[in-house]
Amino acid sequence: SASARELVLSELVTVPDFPEPGIRFRDLTPAFANPHAFRVIVDTLTAKCGAIDAVAGVEARGFLLAAAAAYATDTSLLAIRKKGKLPGSVLTESYDLEYGNDALEISPDHAPPGTRVLLVDDVLATGGTLAAAARLLTRAEYVVAGVGVVLELAELNGRSALPGQDIHAILTL
Ligand code: PRP
Ligand code: MG
Repeated sequence: SASARELVLSELVTVPDFPEPGIRFRDLTPAFANPHAFRVIVDTLTAKCGAIDAVAGVEARGFLLAAAAAYATDTSLLAIRKKGKLPGSVLTESYDLEYGNDALEISPDHAPPGTRVLLVDDVLATGGTLAAAARLLTRAEYVVAGVGVVLELAELNGRSALPGQDIHAILTL
């Protein structure tokens, strides 16, 4: 909605040259620290998808949103973690970073096949992170019911990494 977009826009802080020279860091932590803004953000993300059985969040910033969204919708909370953090049998998907690459993992046995999952993260930039997360959910035999982010950086064309997905961004810059 317009008010959710305006709230995020009013709380968004852009930090030049962080964490490295030349990077314009988009800091959403002020929006999360504003209780009204955080509630509107979580309610907007959960309202924009259809029926779901679970919410999956991407470590680390996606966890802040996914936990609240799963609680609000009374659904399963699924943790997509950075590699090496989960015990036992895991699925792994690599993705490219500006320098090098990293990998995400999920424990595939915490929800049954066909589970309808809302996938959330704070920011959609190149889309590498959310594309790897979506591949994990698909390999776990879940259905990605929607992808929700607070902020989409349109110039990086992250949507092209997520073809066929229903992506909702509260604010697009
Ligand atoms: C940031 C952000 C998204 C991702 C977006 O996470 O929280 O998850 O980058 O970038 P992409 O669309 O180009 O993949 P980061 O990997 O910095 O880690 P964090 O969430 O643990 O801070
Ligand atoms: Mg992240």
